[in-house]
Amino acid sequence: MKLAMFSTQAYDVKYFEHIHGTKFTSKFELTFHPIRLTTDTALLAKDATAVCIFVNDVLGADVLRQLHSYGVRAVLLRCAGYNGVDLEAAQDLGMLVANVPGYSPESIAEFAVAQIQTLNRKTHRAFNRVRESNFSLNGLVGFTLHGKTVGIIGTGRIGVACAKILHGFGCRLLAYDPYPNEVFKQYGEFTDLDSLLAQSDIVSLHCPLMPNTKHLVNEKFLNSMKKGAMLVNTSRGGLIETKAVIAALKSNQLGSLALDVYEGEESVFYGDHSGEVIADDLLMRLLSFPNALVCGHQAFLTEESLQEIATTTLQTMDDLIEGRTCQHALTKVPKS
Ligand code: NAI
Repeated sequence: MKLAMFSTQAYDVKYFEHIHGTKFTSKFELTFHPIRLTTDTALLAKDATAVCIFVNDVLGADVLRQLHSYGVRAVLLRCAGYNGVDLEAAQDLGMLVANVPGYSPESIAEFAVAQIQTLNRKTHRAFNRVRESNFSLNGLVGFTLHGKTVGIIGTGRIGVACAKILHGFGCRLLAYDPYPNEVFKQYGEFTDLDSLLAQSDIVSLHCPLMPNTKHLVNEKFLNSMKKGAMLVNTSRGGLIETKAVIAALKSNQLGSLALDVYEGEESVFYGDHSGEVIADDLLMRLLSFPNALVCGHQAFLTEESLQEIATTTLQTMDDLIEGRTCQHALTKVPKS
């Protein structure tokens, strides 16, 4: 039995090999492929029982059919978001798709707050200045977080973890979610989206990317925000229409922008392109703003998350080959 892993980085190999070595060596083997899983690379999964993919592997019906013809029975996502996999096509093929939900919501929430405070207090700029012996404070004025209103869009595991931290900072919290989570009410109040946008000094996105949330942040959304407010996205790039956000930054309607994800990230994130000319003009424009902070989809990247992701993914593989019910299945598959 084999689990073929794609889009692997050195830290994936380290954590997966460690957990695999403690429990699963006699059950199945692991193969690591640093490249993405596409129709061109799917052959590497021939004879594997399952493939394991990450956030930017896009598995449409074509790749899934190809994998199925090679004998692959399951797609294991080593992440929470599953917007990259055509679940309907997988279901039709009888393939199991499983993810790792809630591996460490605090790791993402803590990163969102780190981005808020970096952007607000401009520590990234101060760090660079001081290295050049420039101790001027001009242009580094931030605001006190205490007493500010933060709007949380999506009160799932990460949204609530974020609310809990910001409540500790003394922020007033508002939230919008079509399926409100009672736990949030300990920290703030639910409201409609327009009212949240009109009142919030900071808006943080924690909802999934789905057809109805794609480009949730568009011109109308941005114009409904309080002028000069901050927008934070640690969820999925496709939630934001990049052109609209660039226009809002240029007109000063949007005060600042923190991104851990970007809608065109597939072609650049997770690779070193420092010696290349990047063709994505929208990304390069975003990077040019002094009031925008862009990170390369790293909110999940803590030791605790990596350990939990490897443990859960390998447990799902074990459940699959032992014929047990997979706890995190996203498709319904008859037991083999
Ligand atoms: P979750 O499933 O626990 O919560 C998502 C919440 O969003 C739910 O309460 C849902 O009702 C709500 N929601 C759905 N549609 C909405 C809408 N139109 N407006 C407002 N809320 C809406 O998910 P969790 O674990 O909190 O993760 C949230 C997202 O964070 C994931 O979908 C994933 O895309 C992203 N993520 C990013 C990571 C990173 O490294 N940057 C790591 C892990 C997750």
